[in-house]
Amino acid sequence: MKGLSGKSVLVTGGGGAIGSAICQRFAEAGSKVLVADRDRKTAEGTAGQLKGTALVFDIADYAAARQALAGVSVDVLVNNAGWDRFQNFLDTRPEDWEALIAVNLRGPLNLHHIVVPQMAERGRGRVINIASDAARVGSSGESVYAACKGGIIAFSKTLARELARKGVTVNVVCPGPTDTPILRSFLGEGESGQKVYDALVRAIPMKRVGQPADIPGIVAFLACDEAAFITGQVISVSGGLTMAG
Ligand SMILES: NC(=O)c1ccc[n+]([C@@H]2O[C@H](COP(=O)([O-])OP(=O)(O)OC[C@H]3O[C@@H](n4cnc5c(N)ncnc54)[C@H](O)[C@@H]3O)[C@@H](O)[C@H]2O)c1
Repeated sequence: MKGLSGKSVLVTGGGGAIGSAICQRFAEAGSKVLVADRDRKTAEGTAGQLKGTALVFDIADYAAARQALAGVSVDVLVNNAGWDRFQNFLDTRPEDWEALIAVNLRGPLNLHHIVVPQMAERGRGRVINIASDAARVGSSGESVYAACKGGIIAFSKTLARELARKGVTVNVVCPGPTDTPILRSFLGEGESGQKVYDALVRAIPMKRVGQPADIPGIVAFLACDEAAFITGQVISVSGGLTMAG
């Protein structure tokens, strides 16, 4: 893929399962990787392995994010940090929604607001937002998370239009069920968790859940030179579980 070498790539949630796989892919392409995470240990662990830079802040805290990113040049922004708590909507209380909205909706808005102006000024930049198939087809127990991820899709399409003549593209990647701690906590422990896992595998045309390593290829492609004419798009990586038109 052309145009990744030497680029400064900021990956939020870069210490997590999918985030660290994305960081590794960009490092292999010769990019300078900025591993942003609220968890210092994982951020520094991933950055250390890749000769990248760890940035420790909470994406939901606008002032902290602005301070951490002051003077940092970013060519590619990957909004990957996310978090979920599984509950049927009618069992939730309004105060339960706030933490989900803060991480999954307000956090990415903060990062766009802080990082994209320098891209627009430069006339060049790439944003890839990691949403979820929960936003495209729904997912029981994930109502507020899905609402946030759906909001990110709508936001990305709008921003893609606003930035189309400024050389900045904005696209969305939607993982399907991917074997990470988030998925394991969704499925639950023991025999019942295994049953849900097996049912999930049966429903996926390729008969397996995703692995973190399935996600970085499309992310890197959307950041490379050949993707310059692609913006406002939503792509699922789900083994065929979702086939949205
Ligand atoms: N695993 C799946 O099945 C799946 C499916 C669809 C979408 N996704 C999305 O993929 C992305 C990565 O998920 P993952 O499975 O690798 O999860 P993960 O829990 O392994 O990684 C998430 C990372 O984000 C960081 N993070 C969370 N909140 C943060 C905050 N406020 N500020 C800074 N960092 C924060 C965590 O510390 C963690 O390192 C998320 O956006 C998630 O919603 C995952």
